[in-house]
Amino acid sequence: MYDLQNKIALVGGASQGLGAACAIRLAAAGATVIVYARTEEKLKQVVNNLPTPLAQEHSYLIIDTHNLVETNKTITQFLKKTKTVHVLVNNTGGPAAGPLYTTSVADLKLAFESHVLHAHQIVQLLLPGMRAANFGRIVNILSVSIKEPIDDLGISNTIRAGMANWAKTLSRELGQWGITVNNVLPGFTKTERLNYLFSTRAEKAGVSIEAISKNIENSIPIKRLGEPEELAAAVCFLCSPEAGFINGINLPVDGGQLRSL
Ligand SMILES: NC(=O)c1ccc[n+]([C@@H]2O[C@H](COP(=O)([O-])OP(=O)(O)OC[C@H]3O[C@@H](n4cnc5c(N)ncnc54)[C@H](OP(=O)(O)O)[C@@H]3O)[C@@H](O)[C@H]2O)c1
Repeated sequence: MYDLQNKIALVGGASQGLGAACAIRLAAAGATVIVYARTEEKLKQVVNNLPTPLAQEHSYLIIDTHNLVETNKTITQFLKKTKTVHVLVNNTGGPAAGPLYTTSVADLKLAFESHVLHAHQIVQLLLPGMRAANFGRIVNILSVSIKEPIDDLGISNTIRAGMANWAKTLSRELGQWGITVNNVLPGFTKTERLNYLFSTRAEKAGVSIEAISKNIENSIPIKRLGEPEELAAAVCFLCSPEAGFINGINLPVDGGQLRSL
């Protein structure tokens, strides 16, 4: 188990799914965790269920990543009492499925704001604290689509690739202050998002969700879907002090799905 004692971690999109799994893992490693998303009831439940091996006091913030102005206010207010956040897991809901050529400019802009601009704003707000601590871990939950675009996920393919280059650039700029920036690339992992993607595919193909799932499982070398905890374990490692020399990488957690090197 990695040691995140005395570290404060902010985890986005954490009212369920991959974000919630990351929050649990970071808390189990000793971090004090602040989760954020839009749904207060779910956030409360997540906080109540976070491990407290060091009697940490976990909490939550209500943040809508579409709303940059309100997010700025919320984080600025939060930083008045919590001066330093050491670990940031950038994560939010995935964009709607669909082809790119029919995607409206407005939808593409909204996704760019919610993913790239949101992450950028949070990093800028947290940066003074990380620099003062001479320690920072920024992990972005992206997708295997940054290496091999996925059919019918036009917005996601576009935005994630932008995030990947944003992260790579930052990793080169922030390393000098002990701050690493890495991306984790989930493959097909069992969450509500996957249920949504499978049901969209099933509807379009006129087959059952089970048939879609079986087909995908067969295409993955490990022959099964991923568990959120498996992704969270990779995130926790990249957030640990032990991973301090790993910077600017894209780590697939995909059961070997990606064919590219
Ligand atoms: N699961 C997979 O197989 C997979 C594969 C590749 C990439 N990904 C990507 O990984 C990310 C997390 O996926 P997941 O599977 O955990 O998805 P999920 O189960 O749908 O969870 C998404 C989380 O993001 C929050 N969220 C959504 N929109 C938000 C907004 N506007 N502002 C703040 N929070 C928001 C949701 O909470 P609220 O609704 O309460 O706000 C929820 O906590 C997504 O971007 C997804 O596309 C997932």
